[in-house]
Amino acid sequence: MSAVSLANPSISRSCRANAFGSRRMARTTGVRVMAARTTYKVEVEHAGKTIELMVPEGQTILNAALDKKIQLPHDCNLGVCCKCPAKLISGTVDASAGMASDDVAEKGYTLLCVATPTSDCKVVTCSEDEILDLQLNA
Ligand code: FES
Repeated sequence: MSAVSLANPSISRSCRANAFGSRRMARTTGVRVMAARTTYKVEVEHAGKTIELMVPEGQTILNAALDKKIQLPHDCNLGVCCKCPAKLISGTVDASAGMASDDVAEKGYTLLCVATPTSDCKVVTCSEDEILDLQLNA
C-alpha cells in the first residue's frame, strides 16, 4: 500500500507525471482569492506645498510620506511626542493609537504618525504648540 492514497485516479496520474518531470501542467482545483486592498488619496499641505499620497489601508500618513522621501516633522513615531500634528480638513482617519485626547480629535486634529486614513482626506500640518495648547487646555 502506498503512503498516499488518492480517491480520484486522474489526480493521481497527474501527480505521478509531474513527479517525473513532465512539462504538462497539473490541473489545479483550488480557487485563488486575491483580497483587494483599499488605498486612499491623501492630500497633505505642508510648508506651503500640497503633497498627494496614495495611502494603503492600515498605513499611516507619515509612513506613506516617508516612503516617498517626503520629509514631514516627526520624532517618536508612536503618537506620543506631538511633533507630527495636523488638522484634518476633510475625510476621516483612525488615530486611536496616539495620545491625542478625544477633545483634540473632535476639534479635527490628528497625529500623522498614527493616523491611518479611513477615507480620502486632506490634512494641513500645524505646529506642535498648537496641538499641545489644545491638549493641555482641554
Ligand atoms: S512622531 Fe511623535 S507623536 Fe507623531
